[in-house]
Amino acid sequence: MLDINVTLTTAPKAKPADETKLGFGKIFTDHMFLMNYEKGKGWFDPRIVPYGPFTMDPACTVLHYGQAIFEGTKCYRRADGGLQLFRPEENFARMSRSAERMGMPALDEETALAGLKKLMEIEADWVPHQDGTSLYIRPTMISTDVMLGVHASRTYLFFIICSPVGSYYKEGLKPVGIYVEDEYVRAVRGGTGFTKCAGNYAASILAGEIAEEKGYSQVLWLDGVEQKYVEEVGSMNMMFAYGRHIVTPALNGSILPGITRKSILTLAQQLGYEVEEKRLAIADIWADIKAGKITEAFGTGTAAVISPVGELCMKGEKLSIGGGKIGPVAQNLYDTLTGIQYGRVPDENGWIVKLS
Ligand code: COI
Repeated sequence: MLDINVTLTTAPKAKPADETKLGFGKIFTDHMFLMNYEKGKGWFDPRIVPYGPFTMDPACTVLHYGQAIFEGTKCYRRADGGLQLFRPEENFARMSRSAERMGMPALDEETALAGLKKLMEIEADWVPHQDGTSLYIRPTMISTDVMLGVHASRTYLFFIICSPVGSYYKEGLKPVGIYVEDEYVRAVRGGTGFTKCAGNYAASILAGEIAEEKGYSQVLWLDGVEQKYVEEVGSMNMMFAYGRHIVTPALNGSILPGITRKSILTLAQQLGYEVEEKRLAIADIWADIKAGKITEAFGTGTAAVISPVGELCMKGEKLSIGGGKIGPVAQNLYDTLTGIQYGRVPDENGWIVKLS
C-alpha cells in the first residue's frame, strides 16, 4: 500500500443546516482523495487535498473519447454516532472490472480503500445524522493523456469525492413511476453494459428526459437486441415479487452487477424468500401484473436503496402495482438492509467496515 499525503483545507465550508433537504449529490465536502497512474510506473502520489476544480487541457482524452468509470458507495452514521461503510471493497473490485473492459488500468484497490478510510476520518463531521441520510461516496477514474488519437491513454486520475445525501428520488419511499423504453437501448451484448462507465449513463439521458416529460421518474431498459427482455433501470436493478417469490433479471453482460442487488438476493434468501435470477420477458411481466400475480416491483441500488415501483407505462398502457404504497417484501428488505447499514440489525454476513 502507498503512503497517503494529507493537505487540509484552510477554508472549511459550513455544513448543511437542514439535513431534511439534502436531496442527492448537490453539496460536496471539504476534501477529496486523488491518485495518479502512468503506464510503466503504476499508481502513485495518493493524496487528500482540499476539494476543488481540476484544470484540464481541452485535448484531454476523457473529454473526447470518454474513458471514464465511477462507483457509488455510502458512509452511514449509527445511532451511537459511529461511522461505517457497506462492502466498499466490492466497489473497488467492480471498478477494476470496469477498467479492464474500458482499456483502463486496474485500480490499486488497497490504496483506494485506505484513502477512502482516511478521507472518512477527515470528513467525519460531514456524515449526516438525520434518519435516511448518509454520505454518498463517488470514486471515479478518468483518462488524462493530451492527444486526439483514439488509443488507450497512458495516464489516468483516480479521485473520490463525497456528498451528504437524502433519498435519490424526491418520492423517498413512496412508489415511483417507470416508463418502459421501447425505442432506445442502453447496452448490447459485448458492449459496456456491465461496467459503470460514464457512457452508459450518457446513453440513457435522452430517454430519461422524455420519460420525465411524461411524468415518470426513470426508464426501464429492455435488452438491446430484441427489446423483449427486462434489463435494469439506469440507477437501479429491478426485482418483481410474486408473493414471497422474488425474481430479477439474470446478469448477462449488459446489466450492471449491483452490489445492492447481490446483497438483497442474499438477504432475501436468509429471510426465507425464494429468489430466482432468470431472463424475464416484459410480455410475461406485463401479463403477470395484469393478472395480479406480481404483487410488488422495486429497484435496488446504492443511491436508490430500495425504491418501490408503483406504476409502469408501456406503449401508452399504464399498470399500477401494489396499490400506491410500498409492499411487505420491499419494506422487509429495506428495513433489513438499512438496519445493517445503520447498525440497527446484526451484520451476519461480515459486510460492514466499522470506522469509529
Ligand atoms: C449509485 O447507486 O451509486 C449509482 O451510481 C447510480 C446513479 C446515481 C448513477
